[in-house]
Amino acid sequence: MDKSSGVIQSVRLDDERDRLIILDQTVLPNKKIFLEIDNMKDVWDAIYHLKVRGAPAIGIAAAYGIYLGTRKTDASTYDELYEEFKKIKDYLASSRPTAVNLFWALNRMEKRFLLEKGKNVDEVKAALKEEAENIRAEDEKVNESIGKYALSLLKPDMGLLTHCNAGAIATSKYGTALAPIYLGQDQGYNFKVYADETRPLLQGARLTAWELNEAGIDVTLICDNMVSIVMKEGKVQAVLVGCDRVAANGDTANKIGTSGVAILAKHYGVPFYVCAPLSTVDLECKTGDDIEIELRPSEEITTKWYAESMAPKDVKTYNPAFDVTDHQFISAIITEDGIAYAPFTESLPKMFEASQS
Ligand code: MRU
Repeated sequence: MDKSSGVIQSVRLDDERDRLIILDQTVLPNKKIFLEIDNMKDVWDAIYHLKVRGAPAIGIAAAYGIYLGTRKTDASTYDELYEEFKKIKDYLASSRPTAVNLFWALNRMEKRFLLEKGKNVDEVKAALKEEAENIRAEDEKVNESIGKYALSLLKPDMGLLTHCNAGAIATSKYGTALAPIYLGQDQGYNFKVYADETRPLLQGARLTAWELNEAGIDVTLICDNMVSIVMKEGKVQAVLVGCDRVAANGDTANKIGTSGVAILAKHYGVPFYVCAPLSTVDLECKTGDDIEIELRPSEEITTKWYAESMAPKDVKTYNPAFDVTDHQFISAIITEDGIAYAPFTESLPKMFEASQS
């Protein structure tokens, strides 16, 4: 991929200073601030408050959080360190519930810990650092591959619609749903991208529109309630979204509002593509009903972004951060190992088997 496309690094370890560097996504696009974090509590806080967000980036940050947390313990034996490790893992796992990449990355860190049995504490800590680095580095390759597969479904000059932000800053690099857009730009595809603003936290307006704009991609910001009109007017030939968890039957949790976009896409005959690393596919969830949906504070709806409250004081609110798109509305799920089509109960396990052989 061209050096200018999708390369903003939102989570990385500054090796020399042993600090986690996180692009604070809560203040974009007005300020570009990189936080320097050296402890697991600040990692938890960065995840919970969405300073680092997007399923793959959350997983990467948590993996580094394990390293930062274990590094600070006084444990002097492997077993003592493992007791501390388990507490740190549980703590980081409590930061957000929906994106399975968080739990996937924490479990992978534990697997690595267990592989180091018999080593001394310093060796185990070094291994955990290496594993977190591996998770980050592999994510780059995964996204590039998702981008190539997704691009094979698109044609030059298409209008594309995306919801929330599944771009470079939601991952290690390139993004998932935005990866084919960056790749296409390098190859002269001339896409026209419509970015839903994504109420209530405006990831589409603040992050996707900013990210694509910075990369010189033709992006048009629309409010969430404008999806129907842009589709009706024939401006959109495909929808590309990322996701936080894919169940075994293909039901997919993604940012609140995604399922409505999928239903509209079906109505207007627009293909709806979900871009998902295999680390986001959770075969243990049989259907979307098994996916826990995060509920977030009411002020995100009532007061955030406004000089004064835009809702009656003390009005009841309901603020689910994600919704589940039923598999019947999904045209394909695009992973790093290929494109899965319905029935997903067959294609997704096959993809896992192939990836392990
Ligand atoms: O609450 P957020 O901003 O973390 O939600 C993010 C999304 O819904 C993304 O679409 C998803 O994590 C995919 S990121 C490649």
